[in-house]
Amino acid sequence: MSEVGMSDNVNVIVSNAKRARKLTPEEIAEIEHEMELYPDKKAVGLEALKIIQKHQGWVSDESLLAIAKYLAIPVADLEGVATFFNLVYRQPVGKNVILFCNSVSCWITGCDKMKRHIGDRLGIDFGETTADNAFTLLPVPCLGDCDNAPVMMVGDDLHRRLDFEKIDEIIANYQKQD
Ligand code: FES
Repeated sequence: MSEVGMSDNVNVIVSNAKRARKLTPEEIAEIEHEMELYPDKKAVGLEALKIIQKHQGWVSDESLLAIAKYLAIPVADLEGVATFFNLVYRQPVGKNVILFCNSVSCWITGCDKMKRHIGDRLGIDFGETTADNAFTLLPVPCLGDCDNAPVMMVGDDLHRRLDFEKIDEIIANYQKQD
């Protein structure tokens, strides 16, 4: 992102959010813990974003402002971190986030067909969430398990060597848990 783009983006965040939300005591305790581990407050930024995401499901503009305020770091720096790490969700997501690898090894082994199958099963495309809020489908770069391509993650679970039957089984299992 260019300098101008980033500054525009930050202005939008500040005017959209109006003010920072109040961090919960649990969020503050976990951020304080990270501050003991990292000497530089800026370095705590990414961990703080992950903490907020764990508790809130995603990182709203109000949350981003709250973290920046609490850590006393510029909003632009924190937004830069959030933009760089594509696993920080800046939009609301469903209960189960499917991180679908579409990098080269997965592509060679037919991930396109698998992605279409998921789309048919759930009625969503990349970047979309099902109407019942159960699943969000997001593309990700290589998940580091190319030998077992095609690969996807749902929450913290890695699913390898995907085929249509496996995908049906995985989706059904998560639907059962909801
Ligand atoms: S390319 Fe998909 S896991 Fe590496």
